[in-house]
Order: sequence, then C-alpha cells, then structure tokens
Amino acid sequence: MSERRTALVTGGSRGIGAAITRALAKRGLNVACTYRNSREEAERICADYPDQAVALSFDLGNAESATQLVESVLATWGRLDTVVLNAGMWRGGRIDSLDPTEWWRVLEANVGGNAQLIRAVLPALRKGENASVTFVSSVVGLQGFPGDTAYASAKSALFGFARSLAKEVGKDGIRANVVAPGFVETDMTADIPDVSREHIAKRAVLRRFGTTEEIAAATAFLAEDATYCTGTVLTVDGGWSL
Ligand SMILES: NC(=O)c1ccc[n+]([C@@H]2O[C@H](COP(=O)([O-])OP(=O)(O)OC[C@H]3O[C@@H](n4cnc5c(N)ncnc54)[C@H](OP(=O)(O)O)[C@@H]3O)[C@@H](O)[C@H]2O)c1
Repeated sequence: MSERRTALVTGGSRGIGAAITRALAKRGLNVACTYRNSREEAERICADYPDQAVALSFDLGNAESATQLVESVLATWGRLDTVVLNAGMWRGGRIDSLDPTEWWRVLEANVGGNAQLIRAVLPALRKGENASVTFVSSVVGLQGFPGDTAYASAKSALFGFARSLAKEVGKDGIRANVVAPGFVETDMTADIPDVSREHIAKRAVLRRFGTTEEIAAATAFLAEDATYCTGTVLTVDGGWSL
C-alpha cells in the first residue's frame, strides 16, 4: 500500500478538474485523474507527476466504469482517501425548448452518475483517515440561471446529496462537502457570447470570472485541510451570488 494519501479526481483531463489534479499532486498526494474522451490531455497532466498521477477512464453514464475505476485505483496504490466529484456535463436550453430526454440526461449524469461512484468508493474511504468526498456544484445551483433548469436542478441536488451523505457517513470518519464555483474560464464557458460574458463578469463583486486555480485551491482546502467541516457549501464566486 502506498504511504502517500491518494485522491481520485473525476473529469481531471480538462478545466477545473485538471487544476484540482495539479493542486493535489503538488501537495504530495497520489492522484487518479479521470477522462472520458480527453485521454491525451489527462495523460499529459499526469506525465508532470511521474509515479504520483495516473489517467484512468471514467464515464458518469456507466455504472460499470465506476466499479472499474475504483478497482484500478486500489490496484495501483492500495488505498483511497479523498474523492473529488468534479466531472460534470452542461446542456443549456429553456424549459420549453430543451428536449426532455436531454433534460433527464443532465440529471442522470450529474446526480445519478455521482451516486454510482459514491457507492463504489465508500468501502475504500471507510478504511482511510480524514477521508473526504468533495462535490463540485455551481452557483447556478444556488441562484438559478435562465436556460439552465436542467443543469441548475442537477447542481442544486448535490447540496442535499452532500448534506445527507455527510449525515450517513460521518460516523465512519468520512466528510462530505461541496464547492460551488462561480463562472470560470474553461471549455464549458467558452461559447458564452461576449455580451453575456461581460454581464456575468460585472455581476460578480470582483468583476471577473474565476480561474481554475482559484477553484482548485478551495477544493483542496475542503478535501484535505478542513478536517472539522462536513455538510458545508463553500461558494467560490467572487461575490457573484451576493
Ligand atoms: N466552468 C465554469 O464556469 C463552472 C462553474 C461552476 C461549476 N462548474 C462545474 O465544474 C466542473 C468542471 O467544469 P469545467 O468547466 O472544468 O468543465 P470542462 O472544461 O468542460 O471539463 C469537463 C470535464 O468533465 C469530464 N466529463 C464531462 N462529461 C463527462 C461524463 N459524462 N463522464 C465523465 N466525465 C465527464 C470531461 O472529460 P473529457 O474531456 O475527458 O470527456 C472533462 O474532464 C463541472 O462539474 C461543472 O459543472 C463549472
């Protein structure tokens, strides 16, 4: 079994998850960084932390891939201490235009997919110390956003999920918390038109989008340092939701 604490970061191949992978690896943890399509990107990130980071395949829509993922982490390092549920999908569209199948797909991936993974990781986390689960939600789940009923419903569900999970597994020494980022410059927000981008940025008290590193620092704090925090939502949004 590895002497290093071991982290699993879903959606670590790009954007916020890539920054979280780097932040945890820099702290000296082993990190399993998952990708769905962006294998090369994930492998490039892991190559910067040889012997410490591995890229593994994971699909939120596939229950088997959750089991296989945990088996691979345990086969590599023999332990799992902290899990960051960062992978997420966004589909925009107002309630009367977004296809109902697509609407449910957003819920299934962002909520159901994470539930499958939680079931798979709990036995390993129960053996750890200062074990934690950190969900990456969104201020859109707190505040709502036009065109985001599906995404906001899913991200909002994660607050209740984490609080209930915290109550279920606290006795096992496992913490469950949520990071709620504001708008961050990643591929997910790349298609926002300039005029909306300006409007969104101005609504934040700090008058800008966040960086992936800023979200990663807050996530690493909840995952590793905040040993007496559980059921907490940490908003990291430059004051967007004030
Ligand atoms: N960007 C923002 O402004 C913002 C704000 C608040 C919250 N968030 C949340 O932060 C998280 C990361 O967002 P991001 O902006 O970094 O997104 P991103 O740049 O689009 O990256 C998404 C990541 O999730 C993975 N992924 C997507 N669908 C998946 C699926 N069905 N199964 C497994 N993995 C999947 C992708 O993997 P592949 O590329 O390998 O397919 C990628 O690594 C998401 O949960 C998002 O909702 C983002």
